Amino acid sequence: MKDASPAAPLEIFLSDYTPPAYLVDTVELTFKLHPTATRVLSRIAFRPNPDTADRTFYLHGEQLKLISATIDGQDANAKVTDLGLTAIAPDAPFIFEAEVEISPSTNTALEGLYMSNGMYCTQCEAEGFRKITYYPDRPDVMAVFSVTIEGEETVKLSNGNDLGDGKWHDPWPKPAYLFALVAGDLVNHPDTFTTMSGKEVELNIWVRPGDLNKCAFGMDALKRSMAWDEKVYGREYDLDLFNIVAVDDFNMGAMENKGLNIFNSSAVLASPETSTDANFERIEAIIAHEYFHNWTGNRITCRDWFQLCLKEGLTVYRDSQFTSDERSPAVKRIEDVIALRARQFREDNGPLAHPVRPTSFVEINNFYTATVYEKGAEVIGMLKTLIGDDAYYKGCDLYFTRHDGQACTIEDWQACFEEVTGRDLAQFKLWYTQAGTPRVSVKEAWKDGTYTLTFTQHTPPTPGQDVKDPKVIPIAVGLLNEAGEEIQATRICEVTDDVHAFRFTGLDALPIASINRGFSAPIILQQDQDNLTRAFLLANDTDPFNKWEAGRALARDVMIRMVTEDAAPDQAYLDALLAVARDDTLDPAFKALVFSLPSGDDIAQALFDGGVTPDPTKIYLTAQTLSQSIAQAMQDTLPRIYAQMQVDGPFSPDADAAGKRAWGNVALSLLTRLDGGAQARTQFEGADNMTQQLSALGALLRAEVGEDASKAFYAQWKEDRLVIDKWFAMQVSFAKLDAAPAVAEALTAHPDFTLTNPNRFRAVFGALAGNTAGFHSPDGSGYALLADWLIKLDAKNPQTAARMSTAFETWTRYDADRQGMMRDALERIKAAPNLSGDLSEMVTRILN
Ligand code: ARG
Ligand code: ZN
Repeated sequence: MKDASPAAPLEIFLSDYTPPAYLVDTVELTFKLHPTATRVLSRIAFRPNPDTADRTFYLHGEQLKLISATIDGQDANAKVTDLGLTAIAPDAPFIFEAEVEISPSTNTALEGLYMSNGMYCTQCEAEGFRKITYYPDRPDVMAVFSVTIEGEETVKLSNGNDLGDGKWHDPWPKPAYLFALVAGDLVNHPDTFTTMSGKEVELNIWVRPGDLNKCAFGMDALKRSMAWDEKVYGREYDLDLFNIVAVDDFNMGAMENKGLNIFNSSAVLASPETSTDANFERIEAIIAHEYFHNWTGNRITCRDWFQLCLKEGLTVYRDSQFTSDERSPAVKRIEDVIALRARQFREDNGPLAHPVRPTSFVEINNFYTATVYEKGAEVIGMLKTLIGDDAYYKGCDLYFTRHDGQACTIEDWQACFEEVTGRDLAQFKLWYTQAGTPRVSVKEAWKDGTYTLTFTQHTPPTPGQDVKDPKVIPIAVGLLNEAGEEIQATRICEVTDDVHAFRFTGLDALPIASINRGFSAPIILQQDQDNLTRAFLLANDTDPFNKWEAGRALARDVMIRMVTEDAAPDQAYLDALLAVARDDTLDPAFKALVFSLPSGDDIAQALFDGGVTPDPTKIYLTAQTLSQSIAQAMQDTLPRIYAQMQVDGPFSPDADAAGKRAWGNVALSLLTRLDGGAQARTQFEGADNMTQQLSALGALLRAEVGEDASKAFYAQWKEDRLVIDKWFAMQVSFAKLDAAPAVAEALTAHPDFTLTNPNRFRAVFGALAGNTAGFHSPDGSGYALLADWLIKLDAKNPQTAARMSTAFETWTRYDADRQGMMRDALERIKAAPNLSGDLSEMVTRILN
């Protein structure tokens, strides 16, 4: 019945899109649950698509055992391959019925229907539904689903409204990727929300019994998200019920299934004792993200998977607006830019670079990338900057009204904004179609009271795209005078040509420019700026993002000169930091961000861009030397900062308290470099929340005096899997110099290490990839270890293995020895028997 040979990897092209031959009106599914032999019965009402003459009847289906298939009650005479099913179908509406058998308990890929800790759950995006039953598994086929779940489990959930007895009905037509089913012995944290039109919605977070005390924060975040989407976008929830389920084994953060969001437990479960401030912020953002998908993704979905950014870029943009509004806009923007540079710029400047809307793929799961998500969100932000807030929200309203219930393209989205503004967005569309991070250099000129900024843009070639056209780049510029006063409020310079000049007239004296304020465009700005100017902007810029950015540029320059010229830590930089530390008008969270040095990977990228081959060991030692100098320069101030930043009273995860803890813990980690760990040990032992406990542990590990604390931490938390993930990650992250591969390898032998839980695998190997000096250990042990384990993981879980292979994407930056060893590791993966299509596509692209 099934073809024995593995399917040849098939490249799919956007340009080959054709509409579906048949549409679906309704789907009825019955699940007879069984760990190794679940039966899925389907009854699907098809009708010919009036928009096409094509009458090929093809249903996707993988790893299914077909029991029977009929068309209008007659044997369908179906032809089955390992990718799908074909049959002769009428040129008129008909009913297709099938019965298939699947084995959820052996499904370690965690795609389709699988089991996690005895509970049944699903993950269908992007193409997992075809592992559940035969179906046109493409997002432009939207249908009304009714589901019956038969099984012993006390809780049985699916999308839409609960009809009782394991029966569910979702009135909103949806693509199959939004289907979900959960069955298990779960308990719920209930609540309600009254929508703006007065409808009461029942809310639940479903968890394993021991986790009920970790639901309150997620529920609060959900209610705040619902209120925010009403207030800011006018979007109301559209069912009487909204369920969230926490699952331990999950390939990603979470999934926006209609009315039944499924979350990685790390992305929803929170308590002060077990979650850090960063965890709380991430959980709030992911809850908001999945909820916001109800309109941007579910009510309006994607025509095909090339349009993924239509829902993801937009929804990331929306969740970032939410976090800005709920917390601090400046801090959120700085955090986002740090992450954008670390992940998206890295991707955009390496072998995996692809446009925000890719034009081809082998495995769509490999395109849930920082480019689609984060650069996709930057593109929305630029659109809003270019057309203004009013036009942006008008365009969104038009999009929601015009396309409700449809599966759309980027062209549909852009047309709404062209219509409300009368503006031609053809050049703007290049942001979707051309990959690569634009380099924008700027020169200044000064004559007779006129200050001129001339921008020159250039985007380097990316795989498959040698030549780039000039993009429209909104660059926010403000001007300061020597007293630090703003003499020109932020103005948007719309750079549209290769070379484009902007004049500021009527000035008394040469101003100091603050360029790309708020990081208004995702570019690499190349500016001849001396460190005096940077220190001036760090002290005076009225734009909080650029104030931080000046400090970051300063830090980068100082570190690069330490690496390349063996320079001593720059006194002007140390003085500037001291001034920030002493400025009581600044938000503690902001100070903490100013004090965080660029990562090893950032410096490696910057060196490479400047034509220097990075040496990760030297970069690591430089960061240590610089941190030590900062600690010494701040010696007298640190105890006072630390004392002032202690937060009394019951724990609150709000931005103010979290900011104080962040700044206090910067002080702690610097203090630990001076006091041998005395203060950190006190904090570790007395901590009543995870932020304080983990920060202290990190400081002790960094100072190499953390062994006892680490043992105590494990003993305290060994029953809490999410905390133990942190324990695994910390040891690898804080391993010094080139020790990380050996530490990681030892941890793989720990009884709590497992290949079947993606969080645990990521804890160890994500931390290894993120420890730049360790991963790039000169003996190649980091590369070899990761390659070994990716091969092992791939046999069970191709999606997570493929994702983790991006650790190698920077290989061409390094010296010949390291390049050779990384190439060997990649070739070895490529040659592994039965390699998945997922990992094979990644390794092939990285090597090319
Ligand atoms: N749509 C989900 C989200 O962004 C993520 C799904 C990821 N799917 C995948 N195959 N990687 O919230
Ligand atoms: Zn999403």
